[in-house]
Amino acid sequence: MKKIAVLTSGGDSPGMNAAVRAVVRKSIYEGIEVYGVYQGYQGLVTDNIKKLELGDVGDIIQRGGTKLYSARCPEFIEPDVRKKAIENLQKRGIDSLVVIGGDGSYRGAQRLDEEGIRTVGVPGTIDNDINGTDYTIGFDTALNTILDAVDRIRDTATSHERTFIIEVMGRDAGDLALWAGVAGGAETILIPESPSDIKEVAGRIETGMKRGKKHSIIIVAEGVMSAAECAEELRKYINVDTRESVLGHMQRGGKPTGSDRVLASRLGAFAVELLLNDIHGHAVGIENNRMTRTSFDQVFEETHKIDEGLYRLSRELSI
Ligand code: F6P
Repeated sequence: MKKIAVLTSGGDSPGMNAAVRAVVRKSIYEGIEVYGVYQGYQGLVTDNIKKLELGDVGDIIQRGGTKLYSARCPEFIEPDVRKKAIENLQKRGIDSLVVIGGDGSYRGAQRLDEEGIRTVGVPGTIDNDINGTDYTIGFDTALNTILDAVDRIRDTATSHERTFIIEVMGRDAGDLALWAGVAGGAETILIPESPSDIKEVAGRIETGMKRGKKHSIIIVAEGVMSAAECAEELRKYINVDTRESVLGHMQRGGKPTGSDRVLASRLGAFAVELLLNDIHGHAVGIENNRMTRTSFDQVFEETHKIDEGLYRLSRELSI
């Protein structure tokens, strides 16, 4: 490997900075020159690339967001656009790239790898929806941010004996809703991976009320429906006092948890290790607490699945 570059792409996630720091420090530790690409793939194309030193990644391990900025760059599917990006790397002698992002970002990474830039993906998204890893960087922090909100909402839900519908992120993936629902003791969890039967939800709330339950918490992933739509649907079957809360982008911000910082540090350094061993066209991950790698082809082979066992448990515990 000659020189390495690192970028963050797609929706930001807490811990991305810790991953950038790990890539930079591990590279320098191994005697490799390292460059930061600002604004994701867009920065590759516009040549927003700067050499990084140890101090450039000081005081960022604890910060949310990404110091390298992030952007969505749909034009990157165009071969001519990628050609420009590759030229910008090659004119500096950069032959290797670490892409920190979600599976959308991995698509661009795979293309670049096929076109001559040795590329490794690091899973950074709050959605936890990437194959080849048990956890993605930012998931644990976002989960805890949601739980903080759920616990607070529960206080007021109990005081007023109301049903609360809390909408969380997850356009295509239900992990945040599922985990927050289990950890927050929600009565109902609605996720895109499983069909939603609002009539059945209404029945469960009614049974609970008859048993003397004072409140009810429904967690809905945005990919299923909005909290407002869910309330409207519910009112077709049951007369309850509902309130809705949309957590929105606050779920993406904030200080990364200790787990996310450690995960990001391990994954970032492991990505550099792979490149040093001439392994590329892969994404790194953690499975059963061991560092693993999965080819981009395999990552894309099937859609990410939720943990069915955890979903069953959530239903058993919320009777
Ligand atoms: O980061 C992933 C994600 O949070 C999805 O769950 C969500 O739908 C999406 O990003 C929204 O991102 P943006 O507002 O950047 O389009």
